[in-house]
Amino acid sequence: MRKPFVAGNWKMHGSKAFILNLVTGLNSRAGELEGVDVAICPPSLYIDFTKRTLSTGVIALGAQNMAEEPHQGAFTGEGSASMLKDLGCRYVILGHSERRAIYGETDSEIANKVQVALDAGLTPIFCVGETLQERESGVMKSVISTQLEAVLSTVGIAAFSSIVIAYEPVWAIGTGVTATPEQAQEVHAFIRSKLAELDPVIAEGVVIQYGGSVKPGNAKELFGQPDIDGGLIGGASLDADDFIAICKAAEI
Ligand code: 13P
Repeated sequence: MRKPFVAGNWKMHGSKAFILNLVTGLNSRAGELEGVDVAICPPSLYIDFTKRTLSTGVIALGAQNMAEEPHQGAFTGEGSASMLKDLGCRYVILGHSERRAIYGETDSEIANKVQVALDAGLTPIFCVGETLQERESGVMKSVISTQLEAVLSTVGIAAFSSIVIAYEPVWAIGTGVTATPEQAQEVHAFIRSKLAELDPVIAEGVVIQYGGSVKPGNAKELFGQPDIDGGLIGGASLDADDFIAICKAAEI
């Protein structure tokens, strides 16, 4: 039985005042969470502030990105996996479509980052997803396979016992257009079947989150699908009550 997992990706939002307010709201309602793992991923600059503001052990911390380079050194502007670990992060989002599209991250860089994160003891939240054009032109499954295979060929199937996958159709991110539960389930089942070709036991245990315009009003139906094990939440994670409502919709 997979334990559902909901993570909030705050993206590049916030300030100390905003985070104090948001995390105070999360602190006050964390006691309601049961049967679901929960994490929040602030901008790196605010991870330490967020950690000091969080007064509950129920909500873990994650980062939104990290350097591909595993060692400290002359890499101006970068932050390493070991630094994230040192700050108290348990998770790191890798391969988000915004990093792929805006910053040109390639499958091979993402695969290396997944390996570096694992080596540092972080759990990667590894994102895959197709654009609308890819879906409409019928190459959705091959796009997702390519994204998956890049990481599989670097870290191996066994490492997927320590990896969370997030399926985020690019066309559903921040658009208000959600994949229907059936559309999402189809891709989640496809991802699991690809992993099952290599190791059915690992495949059965991998948590696969859905991300893309998840809101309190659509979360329950999405999370009710057999292969959807929670969500990666953008906009709605910036509101404590909405985020808690989404977490509770994933509870088993
Ligand atoms: P939205 O929930 O704002 O659509 O963002 C989804 C996402 O990209 C989470 O990583």
